[in-house]
Amino acid sequence: MTSWWRTAVVYQVYVRSFLDGDGDGVGDLAGLTAGLDAVARLGVDAVWLTPVYRSPQVDHGYDVADHRDIDPLFGDLATFDRLVGAAHDRGLRVLMDLVPNHVSDQHPWFVAARAGGPERELFHIRSRPTGWQSMFGGPAWSPLPDGSWYLHLFAPEQPDLNWAHPVVQSDFADTLRFWLARGVDGFRVDVAGGLAKDPAYGEVRRGSLHHPHWDRPEVHDVYRSWRGVLGTAPAVAEAWGPPERTAEFARADELGQAFAFDVLHTPWSAAALQRTVDAQLAAHRAVGALPAWVAGNHDIARVATRLGPERALALHLFLLALPGAFYLYAGDELGLPDAQVPPETWQDPQSLRSGGRLPNRDGARVPLPWTSGPGVGFTTGEPWLPIPATWPQYARDRQESDPTSAWSVLQRALAARPWLWTSEDLTWQDARPGVLVGRRADALVVLNTSSRPWRLPVATEVVARSVPGAEPTIATPSECVWLRDRRVRSPT
Ligand code: BGC
Repeated sequence: MTSWWRTAVVYQVYVRSFLDGDGDGVGDLAGLTAGLDAVARLGVDAVWLTPVYRSPQVDHGYDVADHRDIDPLFGDLATFDRLVGAAHDRGLRVLMDLVPNHVSDQHPWFVAARAGGPERELFHIRSRPTGWQSMFGGPAWSPLPDGSWYLHLFAPEQPDLNWAHPVVQSDFADTLRFWLARGVDGFRVDVAGGLAKDPAYGEVRRGSLHHPHWDRPEVHDVYRSWRGVLGTAPAVAEAWGPPERTAEFARADELGQAFAFDVLHTPWSAAALQRTVDAQLAAHRAVGALPAWVAGNHDIARVATRLGPERALALHLFLLALPGAFYLYAGDELGLPDAQVPPETWQDPQSLRSGGRLPNRDGARVPLPWTSGPGVGFTTGEPWLPIPATWPQYARDRQESDPTSAWSVLQRALAARPWLWTSEDLTWQDARPGVLVGRRADALVVLNTSSRPWRLPVATEVVARSVPGAEPTIATPSECVWLRDRRVRSPT
């Protein structure tokens, strides 16, 4: 399957925090439409919108009450259509976030199931709970009024669907068709590895390869059935696990793409990064796919906080230079750190439900700064999460006019990136410990994870670098440099 998305750069928009069009303090579709020129100026190929469906917003849209309507918080179907049209006019594709593992407890099916209707079969309802745990802390089963128990791998307001039921399967196929017909170009599939549950509801056994609800083989039947509906449209799997397991979701007759999440846990070490990249490339190539690289998203602390701003930018350039797609989390192009969100303003169900035991995801979800003036241009109202006083220094307007900013570094790299696609191969060249040098045809990508400068090879010229204005013949510590090797004739 050779398609635009195999090598695309996709900009992940956390819609609530991108730009507010109506002054209620929450980002929306009108705001996103107004901000599309800025997205296009950065030079990405597509946008992925976090869920904007009708939802009580218990998990900020990942609790869907109607998969085929827009929540009034974000707009309506007409605003959505305008967004898709405006994106396409700018050459940007649009991916939606599909949430198939669970629905909201306000979804009509669950309302009817709770009342004892035949819709009970569309969920996992049992007379006794198992010991399964919710991802947000505590038991994964909650009682219904009649004393039976329903499964929710996330919050109790997110009951899990029974994917063995044909009605669930056909309804989701309809949802895919509905959005494709509106011009949507693809999907990100939430909790892609969770849909199939052990029919015997066995307990989780430590060390067993077979899990009662993660990454069971039956889940792949679901995605094979979607491929016929999707045609050539991409879908990217949110599935955590070892590379060879996650890459299975990227098979040509399934979703086509899967996130390479283990980069997020790889230490800042040339050897460790090389191992991660090699394992991901090998696993994906084995199924005829390329990885979807990722440095951050709305579920983990921002990369500038995890690694520090210089390494974060270097990691972006490094991942952008690898064979595969890259998903850029909105705000990371500004080098935003995780915000310190005061516990009394926490919104994330993960930290609220676990009493702060599980990480708070709000810090990576704070609204973006557009201008350096008061209110940072996100909203005319009160932002849904408090915006730190330091945010003006990261403002988009300031960074776009500063050639040394994180935004400008990324913008230049994105403009140069198509040149890398003369080759899908990547080979490593010998370098000093702590320095990685990868080659793709006439392109060399140098990542210096060490604390000493590294002299760049002769007969090369710098095409992009993460430390603008640095000495032209060296890679500084914590820098990534893209070089053109003048001794290699570029295939035309
Ligand atoms: C999403 C999270 C969400 C969860 C439940 C995820 O993996 O990325 O933000 O809380 O699924 O839908």
